[in-house]
Amino acid sequence: MTEMDFAHCVVIITGAGRGIGRAHAELLASRGAAVVVGDLGAAIDGSGVDGDDPAREVADAITAAGGRAVACSADVSTEQGAVALVDAALSTFGRLDAVINNAGIVRTAPFDQVPDEEYQRHLDVHYFGTLRLCRAAWPHLVNSPAGRVVNTISQAMLGNPGMSHYGGSKGAVFGLTRNLALEGLEAGIKVNAIAPGAGTRMAEASADSLSPEVMEYMRTQLRPEHVAPVAAYLVSAACTVTGEVFNLAGGGVNRLAVLNTVGIHDPALTVETVADRFDEIMAITPDAVPQIVAPAEVPAAS
Ligand SMILES: NC(=O)c1ccc[n+]([C@@H]2O[C@H](COP(=O)([O-])OP(=O)(O)OC[C@H]3O[C@@H](n4cnc5c(N)ncnc54)[C@H](O)[C@@H]3O)[C@@H](O)[C@H]2O)c1
Repeated sequence: MTEMDFAHCVVIITGAGRGIGRAHAELLASRGAAVVVGDLGAAIDGSGVDGDDPAREVADAITAAGGRAVACSADVSTEQGAVALVDAALSTFGRLDAVINNAGIVRTAPFDQVPDEEYQRHLDVHYFGTLRLCRAAWPHLVNSPAGRVVNTISQAMLGNPGMSHYGGSKGAVFGLTRNLALEGLEAGIKVNAIAPGAGTRMAEASADSLSPEVMEYMRTQLRPEHVAPVAAYLVSAACTVTGEVFNLAGGGVNRLAVLNTVGIHDPALTVETVADRFDEIMAITPDAVPQIVAPAEVPAAS
């Protein structure tokens, strides 16, 4: 296959000053994309700002390597932050084609020891951050020949110890992804999500909820650079799917599908029927179907 080129793509990447977001930014810039490197320089749990300016550092590294990048230290959890990111794309590069919502925070704690403010902070960064940036970017994505959104969720939405606040907010991003995918169908905007695993500072902060063996494996084998190629594919014009989620770690890529079992149908349903036929309700048979937003498009013949 010929090398994929992103020279016509202007992309905003949030949380791109560190970890996985930095890998997205460096890969896409190295393939010609113009990148808005968004990063507030947030503390790992979102409780404040670290004081450094990681967005500037990454944008400088990209431009020093001959790429196109601009830094934006906006806070994605605010409406002004979302608008500032879109303005940075338009004022620097004159257009906007894609958004990768990657900024994230985490702290592990049992669900009943997390104050409401912290639940809200996780929603503000993950759910509202994604929603507000998508809303500010949307008219420009509609005008793009290949409008794309890649959201970042987590396996924690399916259950991880001490991560109710984090996992719950990522579950909200999953629901948003599916619904925005529907809203984007007419304009051809593809909205997908990734659930990455990589040995970043965020993984280190989750060490309490993971075994020492898993942590060591993450540090040594799961690199942010393993995650970026799928995000780049989902940003590309070649992407034919929408409303999908992909698990990514260490070079492994698989689809996370929501499956409807065939189940049972009984208009005279009673509680005893449910009890008696519970195995049938649960059974994942060959005719169980994934719930999709839209079938993958057939790529145009070249
Ligand atoms: N590392 C993993 O194994 C893993 C697993 C599942 C999901 N994720 C998700 O991947 C994404 C990237 O995580 P990472 O591991 O690279 O973490 P990271 O901590 O290395 O990077 C996250 C970046 O987001 C930025 N950020 C946080 N809040 C912000 C805000 N309000 N405005 C702007 N920037 C903000 C931080 O400053 C930081 O640079 C996150 O959404 C995370 O939830 C990571």
